[in-house]
Amino acid sequence: MDTIYIIDFGGQYCHLISRRIRDFGVATKIVPSDVSAEQIQQDPTARGIILSGGALSVFGKDAPVFDKQMFALPIPILGICYGHQLLAYHLGGTVRAGKAGEYGLTALAVHSQRGILKGLRKKEMVWMNHRDIVVRIPKNWKKIASTAHSAIAAYASDDGRIHGVQFHPEVSHTVHGDFLLKNFVFAVAKCKKSRSSQSVVESLVAEASDAINDRRAIIGLSGGVDSSVATALVSRAIGRRLTAVYVDTGLMRAGETAEIRNTFRPLPLKLKVIDAGSRFYAALRGVTAPERKRKIIGKLFADIFLEAAKKEKAEVLVQGTIYSDRIESGITKHSSVIKSHHNVGGLPKKFGMQVYEPLRDLYKDEVRALAATLKLPKTILERQVFPGPGLAIRIIGGVTRERAEIVRRAHAIIEQELRPTPYWSSIWMSFAVLLPIKSVGIQGDERSYRSPLVVRIVESRDAMTANFFRLPYDLLEKISTRITNEIRDVNRVVYDITNKPPATMEWE
Ligand code: XMP
Repeated sequence: MDTIYIIDFGGQYCHLISRRIRDFGVATKIVPSDVSAEQIQQDPTARGIILSGGALSVFGKDAPVFDKQMFALPIPILGICYGHQLLAYHLGGTVRAGKAGEYGLTALAVHSQRGILKGLRKKEMVWMNHRDIVVRIPKNWKKIASTAHSAIAAYASDDGRIHGVQFHPEVSHTVHGDFLLKNFVFAVAKCKKSRSSQSVVESLVAEASDAINDRRAIIGLSGGVDSSVATALVSRAIGRRLTAVYVDTGLMRAGETAEIRNTFRPLPLKLKVIDAGSRFYAALRGVTAPERKRKIIGKLFADIFLEAAKKEKAEVLVQGTIYSDRIESGITKHSSVIKSHHNVGGLPKKFGMQVYEPLRDLYKDEVRALAATLKLPKTILERQVFPGPGLAIRIIGGVTRERAEIVRRAHAIIEQELRPTPYWSSIWMSFAVLLPIKSVGIQGDERSYRSPLVVRIVESRDAMTANFFRLPYDLLEKISTRITNEIRDVNRVVYDITNKPPATMEWE
C-alpha cells in the first residue's frame, strides 16, 4: 500500500486534500506539522508529502514548527498555498508579504503543461486564498504558472521532486484541481491504487485492534449508519469484548428495536438492549418545555450509558463520530445554541474513559460505502436521520405512551406511503408531529373533537437549511386519509409548508 503524507499546517482545506486522494484509491496520513522527517522516512509505504495550506505567514513568530530535514528526504513534495511559500522560503527563494491578498476564483496562465500541470489548459480558473507571495525561486527551479497577482503561482524543481502551487487544487472551484493532484500522486510520487472499501475495512479493523488492545469497550448504538458501521468494525476487531448498548427509550420509531436486535445479534459482540421506556416516561411526566425535555433525555441517556459501562468494566468508549460532526462541533462552538443536541459531543468527557472514534476522518458517503462492504442491511443504510430525543420532541406538550403511539403510527403510515415512490431518496426526513390542541371534525356521521396532526416532509443537503417537500396533492391526500382512518384520535391532518429558516425541521 502506498501512502501520501499530508502535513497539516492548520489550513481549513487540509482534510479535503486527503479526501480527494483517498477518492483516487490511494491511502493518506494527515500528520501534525511537527512530525519528524525520520518518522516519515521510517514508513516504507511513504511515497509523497503534501504540505497543506495554513493561515499564518512564513515570517511570523507564531509560524508552525516543522522539521526542515523533511525537504531533504528522497520523497517528492508538493506545497499548497502556505506549503508553496514555505518550500520557497526555506530552500533559497524569496517570499514577500503581499500588499493586497488574492482571494477567490482567479485566472491562471499555465506556462508548462507538463509534470503536475499535465492535462491542464493554457488558461485555467483556480481558487486562491492568500496574502503573501513567492517572488523568487531557487535557480534550479522553474516557474510553471502565474496569475496577475502571483508571478510565481506554481513552480517545479529541475529534478521534478519539489513542486508548489499557490492555489488550492483540492477545492472544487479549481476546475482541474483533480488533474493536478492525480499528476502528483500517480506520475510524480508513483503511487499505485490500493484503497478500496474492503481495504479500508481491513485497515480500520487492524487500527481498532491496536487502539483497544486487550481492553473492553462499549459503544452507544442508535441504529443510524455511523454508529452501526463503528459497531460492526470494532466487533470484527475485538469480538465480544465490545458491548453495544442500544437504549430503547420508548420513544423510538415503529419496529426499530426489533430491527436492531435482528441486525446485530448475529455479529460477534455483546448486544445490550436496555428497555428504559419506564424511566424516560417517568422523567418526562408533566414536562412540556422543549429544552427541558432535551436536557432530561440527555442526562438519562448518560446515566444509563454510564451504568452499562461500569457493569461491563469497559475502559474504552467507541463513538461513531464522523468528520462532519467534528467540523460542526467546531463551527458551532461559538454560535448560539438553538437546540441542545444531547448526543453530539458532551458524553465522553464526563465518563473518564478513553474515547476511540474509528470514523473520525471519513465523510458520510464513505461511511455508507463501508456499511455496504460490511454487509449491513439496506434498512440501516437508507435510514432517515432520527433525533436522539426521539418522538419526545415531536409530541408538543406532555409526553405520554398514548401520545407517543399516535405519532409512531402516523410516522409509519407516512413512511409506508413514501418509501415506494421516487421521492423517497430525495427526502431528508418525513415524520408526524402531534399538537396539544383539539379541533372539531365529523367522523362516522358524528361530531368529533380530537387532535390535529402535522405532517412534516423536508429536503435538505446538510441539515443547516431545508425546504418543505413539494409532494403531489394526491399523495398527501392518501397520507391524510390513512392517518384519519387508522388513528382514531386524529381527525385533522395539516402539512407543514415552512422552510428552515425560519422554522427548524423538528418542531422542538
Ligand atoms: P433541526 O430541527 O435543528 O434539525 O432543523 C436538524 C437535524 O438534526 C436532527 N436533530 C437531532 N439529531 N440529536 C440528534 O442526533 C438531537 O438532539 C437532534 N435534534 C434534531 C433533526 O432530526 C434533523 O435531521
